[in-house]
Amino acid sequence: MKLVVAGTGYVGLVAGVCFAEKGHDVTCVDVDENKVKLMESGVSPIYEDGLEELMKRNNAAGRLHYTTDYKSAYKDPDAIFIGVGTPEQPDGSANLSYIATVCRQIAENVEKDCLVVVKSTVPVGTNDHVEQFIKDFLVRKELHIEVASNPEFLAQGSAVHDTLHAARIIIGTESEEAEKLLREIYEPFQLPIVAMNRRSAEMTKYACNDFLALKISYMNDIANLCEKIGANIEDVAKGMSYDARIGANFLKAGIGYGGSCFPKDTKALKFQAHKVGYRLRTVEAAVDVNADQKTALFYKASNRMISFEHLKVAVLGLAFKPGTDDLREAPSIDNIALLLKNGADIVAYDPVAMNNFKKKFPEGVVEKGTISYTNQIEEALKDANICFIFTEWKEIRKVKPETFKQLMRTPLAYDGRNIFDPEKMKAAGVEYYSIGR
Ligand code: UDX
Repeated sequence: MKLVVAGTGYVGLVAGVCFAEKGHDVTCVDVDENKVKLMESGVSPIYEDGLEELMKRNNAAGRLHYTTDYKSAYKDPDAIFIGVGTPEQPDGSANLSYIATVCRQIAENVEKDCLVVVKSTVPVGTNDHVEQFIKDFLVRKELHIEVASNPEFLAQGSAVHDTLHAARIIIGTESEEAEKLLREIYEPFQLPIVAMNRRSAEMTKYACNDFLALKISYMNDIANLCEKIGANIEDVAKGMSYDARIGANFLKAGIGYGGSCFPKDTKALKFQAHKVGYRLRTVEAAVDVNADQKTALFYKASNRMISFEHLKVAVLGLAFKPGTDDLREAPSIDNIALLLKNGADIVAYDPVAMNNFKKKFPEGVVEKGTISYTNQIEEALKDANICFIFTEWKEIRKVKPETFKQLMRTPLAYDGRNIFDPEKMKAAGVEYYSIGR
C-alpha cells in the first residue's frame, strides 16, 4: 500500500520505517531539508537501536522515501499517518498547531480518497475536529477523507522492537471501511488488533500512559514511606511482582518519571478532565508525587551536607532513561540546576546524552557553580566529594563499589536508580544512599 507519514520524530520515523519493513511503499514528510538528506543517506536523526539498519535496508529496496515536498506526497496515498509533536503548553494542554498545519496541507493537496490516521497523542475528541478541519479546507470537495485514531505505544530506546512486536494495535474508527483499511495495513505485522471508536482509542492512549505513571508514582510514594519505616522497596516490589493482578513491570522506584510522554500525558488528561468539570484525583496525585520525587535526591543530600559550594560533584547519567539521548523532563536537569545554584562544581558523564545536555548547560560557569563533561566515568569520580546517579546505564552499573572508594575524595554516593547493593557499597567503605531502602 502507498503510505505517507507526516513528521519524522520518534513516532513518525519509526512508524514509517517499520511500515516499509513490512512491505509498504512509504514516504516520510518533514519540514527540515537537512534532516531529509540525512535520512536519505541512512542516518537517523534520533538514537534508536536497530533503526538505521532498517532505514538503510528499506532505502536500498526503494520502499522508503523522504521529502519536504508535501504537495506531491499528499497527492495520492492510500493513507497518511500523522506523527508530529503535540507539545505541552504552560497550562498543561496539548499544542495542536503542528497537527493543524499538516491537516491543512493535506486538505489543499490531496487528489484521491484517503484515510488520515492520527498517531500523535491527542486530547480525546481531537480526531473529530481534525476530520471537520480537513473537510473545511478540502479543495476537492468531492473526495472522501476519513480520519482514524491509531495511538502509538512505543517506548524510547526500544522503539523499533516495540513497533514490530507491539502488544496490540489500537485502531479507532467511525466506519467499517476505515477499520478494514487499517487492518489491511497492519496485516503483515501479525499482531493483535483492538478496534473501537475514535474517542475510545484516543482515551486508551492516555489511560495507558497515565496508569503507568501512576504505578511509578505509587511505588515512589511507597519507597519514601519504606525509608521512614525501615522497609526495603526492592524487596517489597519483588513481593508484589508475583501477583499477576499487579504485574512485574513498572514497579521500580527511583527519581521519578521523565521523558516525552508520562509528564505530558498526565498533565494533559488532568487538563481535559478539568475542562469538563471533573477532577481526576488519581492522576493529579501521580503528578504531585512525581514533581517532588524528581528532586528528592538533591534534598536528601543537602540534609547531609552543610554546603555544596566548590564541592566536586560527579554526576553519572543524564538521560531520562537508558538507551536514549533524550533529555525531555529528565530528573538530572532539575537536580543539576539545584546543584549549580548551590555552587557545586559538576563533572558529568553520560554515554550518549552529553552533547544534548551541553546545549542546556554549556561547559563553564553556571549560576554559582561550574559544569564540565567527560566520557570517562573514572574521570568524573576522581577526587569527587559526592556522586549522584541519575540514569541506570549499563556502563554505570558496571562500576565496582571499590572504584568509588578508590577514586573519590569522600566516597559518598546518592543513587536515584537503586543500581548498587547497599551492603556491598557499605562493605567497600562507600557511604551510600538510594531510594526506599
Ligand atoms: C512511555 C511508555 O512506556 C510508552 O508506552 C509510551 O508510548 C510513551 O511513554 P518512554 O517515555 O519512552 O515510554 O519510557 P519508559 O520506559 O516508559 O520510561 C518512562 C519514565 O519512567 C523514565 O523516566 C523511567 O526511568 C521511569 N520509570 C519507568 C520508572 O521510574 N520506574 C519504572 O518502573 C519504569
